Amino acid sequence: MQRSGTISTWNRNPAEEEAMGAAHAPIWRRMIDVSVLDDLSQSTVLDYGCNQGGFLRMLYDRHPFQAGVGIDIARESVARAQLLKRQRPIEYQAADHAAMLGRVFDFAFSHEVLYLLPDLADHAADIKAALRPGGAYVAAMGCHTDSAVWPRWRKVIAETSSIPVYDHSLDRVAAVFSEAGFAVSVQPLALDAFMPVTVGSDYFPKIVDQLRYYSQDKVLFRFVRSP
Ligand SMILES: C[S@@+](CC[C@H](N)C(=O)[O-])C[C@H]1O[C@@H](n2cnc3c(N)ncnc32)[C@H](O)[C@@H]1O
Repeated sequence: MQRSGTISTWNRNPAEEEAMGAAHAPIWRRMIDVSVLDDLSQSTVLDYGCNQGGFLRMLYDRHPFQAGVGIDIARESVARAQLLKRQRPIEYQAADHAAMLGRVFDFAFSHEVLYLLPDLADHAADIKAALRPGGAYVAAMGCHTDSAVWPRWRKVIAETSSIPVYDHSLDRVAAVFSEAGFAVSVQPLALDAFMPVTVGSDYFPKIVDQLRYYSQDKVLFRFVRSP
């Protein structure tokens, strides 16, 4: 198990870190729409790389769960998540390994974290240790080498990320989780929302880039731990 150590915030610019949750909300909504089909009232849920915790708050408000834990290496973001959770049965912790929590989860989620992990096999083993047999991990990934915008994004994100960015392909991610004992499936995120258009965007030079990214390049993996 390799430890990453903690950081203050993931984005070097705290204002951008603060704005990230609102920008990601339509994507979290879509992740929940397509991947949460069961009643979660008896379920435990993990969010790996939770930042300020918005995904678990949204999930709980739509599908109340028994207990949730969000972990992230960004200490200030985790502290903010703790403040924002209010009465919800969620804990946020500064950590990089779910197995360190000593708990077993029915479901795990991550949104745009895999490309920040140097060792995918270590991550797959960690999630396996934290999930019950038959439990599912849904990981959203648009930052990968098969995305048409990745060469551009890699540079832009590296300037703002306080940790290194890695070049993982979708096939590599699938192979690693398969070898770790997960049944792997995938679908495009196929976002069904109006997304703001920023003229002169560093991320999407043309509107067709944005349309292709949200309909095709950004995917949801589902990794189900073998019983
Ligand atoms: C692009 S942000 C996404 C945050 C959040 N999932 C969201 O949807 O807004 C990536 C997050 O992963 C966290 N992260 C990176 N490496 C991590 C690790 N090894 N363990 C836990 N969190 C990590 C970062 O600190 C950051 O908060």
